[in-house]
Amino acid sequence: MRTVVELPAGQAGDTGAGPLLEVSGLDVTYRTARGLLPAVRDVSFRVERGEVFGLVGESGSGKSSLVTALMRLLPRGSEITADRLEFDGTDLLTMPESRMRRLRGREIGLVPQRPMTSLSPVTPVAAQLRRLTGGEVDDARLHELLTDVGLGGLKARLGDYPFQFSGGQLQRMLIAVAVLAREPSLVLADEPTTTLDATVQAQVLRLLLDLRERLGNTVLLVTHDLGVVAQVCDRVGVMYGGRLVEVAPTRQLFEDPQHPYTRALLAAMPSNQARGERLRPIPGTVSGAQLLPGCPFAPRCDRATALCWEVDPEPTEHAGRTVRCHHPGSPA
Ligand SMILES: Nc1ncnc2c1ncn2[C@@H]1O[C@H](COP(=O)(O)OP(=O)(O)OP(=O)(O)O)[C@@H](O)[C@H]1O
Ligand code: SF4
Ligand SMILES: [Mg+2]
Repeated sequence: MRTVVELPAGQAGDTGAGPLLEVSGLDVTYRTARGLLPAVRDVSFRVERGEVFGLVGESGSGKSSLVTALMRLLPRGSEITADRLEFDGTDLLTMPESRMRRLRGREIGLVPQRPMTSLSPVTPVAAQLRRLTGGEVDDARLHELLTDVGLGGLKARLGDYPFQFSGGQLQRMLIAVAVLAREPSLVLADEPTTTLDATVQAQVLRLLLDLRERLGNTVLLVTHDLGVVAQVCDRVGVMYGGRLVEVAPTRQLFEDPQHPYTRALLAAMPSNQARGERLRPIPGTVSGAQLLPGCPFAPRCDRATALCWEVDPEPTEHAGRTVRCHHPGSPA
């Protein structure tokens, strides 16, 4: 039976040794002026403890909606339903909001996409960083945290405002509070380097990965950068039109992509793709894909048959990978 967020709160489950995050049949629907928009549809995946799970897909495919749903921070009026949405064995959907507030930051850390816009422009950074840790750190601890992320030299400037720092410095500060301050077991990073220039992107990503090695946390990394996926992710989920169309260990995905959309993405990636380059466009547009009755990729797929236009494929599992396609596999 499906559980809706607005239902009365239930009991949290026991902490177990299963996957850290288990998502099954997740739907996210926005209420818009033009009607209901299903941004995430029937998405199922697991993130194992200690792994880096990458989430890729072109703009509008539903990646941020998925991440935001995990934190239960979707805008008012939107709806989350799922067969299962569990973090560390605990049901996130029925968790009371008071418990959810404690969990955010403490057990699940969020590294935002745009450091500048996630901070207020009119409040000094020190006050904001302390607030983001739930008021749990004093100035001395804040200095320690910032030194730990290579910002020890900024100690005297923490009364400054966000615009007085570079995007890379702000992102390091936010990583210090999201990852280091309370050492959450799961870190959600939604395109954490997109707004930074290429050199700084590499440094910030290195910092996230170094912290992950040190703290042993689990990372769900949303990225447009297939070069990053290839180098740092253990497994990858590919999103298209609100669907998770393929999930596979990274190497298998790159060596033998099964879904036509994954194949098109990889074919559009030059073998010498530089870090920091966004996904190259493939022919056609993702616009409206969520609303099609059949497979969302049918209008752009060179394998589409009548069945594809009429029936949305169910996910099928084989040898540790999941594919959502009527005609998967390598080209004949
Ligand atoms: N608050 C909202 N209200 C209404 N529709 C929304 C809202 N946020 C996102 N959407 C729509 O939901 C769909 C998925 O958007 P989402 O931001 O999750 O995609 P994304 O994969 O994160 O894209 P990007 O790579 O550009 O960040 C899009 O059609 C988007 O327009
Ligand atoms: S289900 Fe059909 S249209 Fe969709 S990706 Fe597979 S072959 Fe293409
Ligand atoms: Mg996004």
